[in-house]
Amino acid sequence: MSEFAARREQLLQAMGEGVALFPSAPVALRNHDVGHPYRQDSDLYYLTGLDEPESLLLLTNQHEEHRVVLFVRPKKREREIWDGPRAGLEGAVADFGADVAFPIEELAEKLPDYLGNVERLHYRLAQNREADAIVFDCLNHLRRGGRRGVNAPETVIDSAMHLHEMRLRKSADEIATMRKAAAITREAHLRAMQLARPGIHEYEIDAELLHVFRKHGSERAAYESIVGSGPNATILHYRAGNRVLDDGELLLIDAGCEYDYYASDVTRTFPVNGTFSAEQRAIYAIVLRAQKASIDAVTTGATLDEIHQRAVRSITEGLVDLGLLDGECDTLIEEKKYEPFYMHRTSHWLGMDVHDVGHYFVAGEQRPLEPGFVLTVEPGIYIATDAESVDERWRGIGVRIEDDVLVTAGAADVLSEGIPKEIDEVEAACA
Ligand code: GLY
Ligand code: MN
Ligand code: MN
Repeated sequence: MSEFAARREQLLQAMGEGVALFPSAPVALRNHDVGHPYRQDSDLYYLTGLDEPESLLLLTNQHEEHRVVLFVRPKKREREIWDGPRAGLEGAVADFGADVAFPIEELAEKLPDYLGNVERLHYRLAQNREADAIVFDCLNHLRRGGRRGVNAPETVIDSAMHLHEMRLRKSADEIATMRKAAAITREAHLRAMQLARPGIHEYEIDAELLHVFRKHGSERAAYESIVGSGPNATILHYRAGNRVLDDGELLLIDAGCEYDYYASDVTRTFPVNGTFSAEQRAIYAIVLRAQKASIDAVTTGATLDEIHQRAVRSITEGLVDLGLLDGECDTLIEEKKYEPFYMHRTSHWLGMDVHDVGHYFVAGEQRPLEPGFVLTVEPGIYIATDAESVDERWRGIGVRIEDDVLVTAGAADVLSEGIPKEIDEVEAACA
């Protein structure tokens, strides 16, 4: 709780005079009265630790008594019998750091009290239509109040401006949580390597990954696990299906757990029967070399584009060596001839969201890495089943290797370390 309080203070300092609003994630209905699993909005969770729907955090440094105001669902026995206990108004104050709490039903009525005569509102427009409607009504109401001496905010600033910069720089606590998420993910990948064998379905592996996540206290997968066998490994966001794993194929697993609202995001590719074929081994070795070269480039001051270019060069050189590309390396890179085989970027920010928040460019330039940033490094080679430019023996091979990396002032700190990726380690883990 002290970390949440410190974050709120840091944000209140950074934003200057004004009021900031952070609504909860909306509830998504699957059908009738059955909902999709609920997950709190990352911004609101980052500032409160509150995981309840129908809530809103208001931060202000322009109110005489209150800095932290929570709107929540009041305690209500009839509803709690169905949906479980609520923090309620008392809990919002006692457990979640609010100076005062109100029922969420009173939001529209109370909001003008906090926004009147405030110049700057920090709010992320157009993200949550339900919250937008309440905020817009409040602004319109205040704009009609000029003659009574009440002015509406004249400036609405994206609340992400300061907050997402904070979220991009991970604290020691956050890094420890991300290490824990990666450690659980390691267990899941190890289990999948042991379990996979000819005759097993992709969905069985998918279920086992989730089993290991949950067994270790992870709430959920950080994204839908990708479990692609054989040619399915060449489909970037393939969801585990009915396919039966076959002898002689590769299995690509891109799966990471979420732990205490922090994501891990790890990919491993391994032979279903435990031994790489000559072609699989050759492609795998290129991707591994590219991934290590990219990880070596992760340090303070480097950019994601530099890291990506390392992977591109390494992959292009490897494809030339194997005869899958023909020509001079610099020209092939310039003409993007590698793209049919490597069509995605190498990195994205990682944090509470798997594709985490934070600007990638600042003033039009690639942003230099800073200590505390966490990113993925995930090169791959995907040879389509209908890739007519290459010999048939290469077709249908898909390999990606992905780790989670913390930027430090020195060498990269691989949070997902210890998940087999050297060829002999992978074969041993599958044996
Ligand atoms: N698992 C999604 C990604 O690697 O970006
Ligand atoms: Mn991934
Ligand atoms: Mn990723």
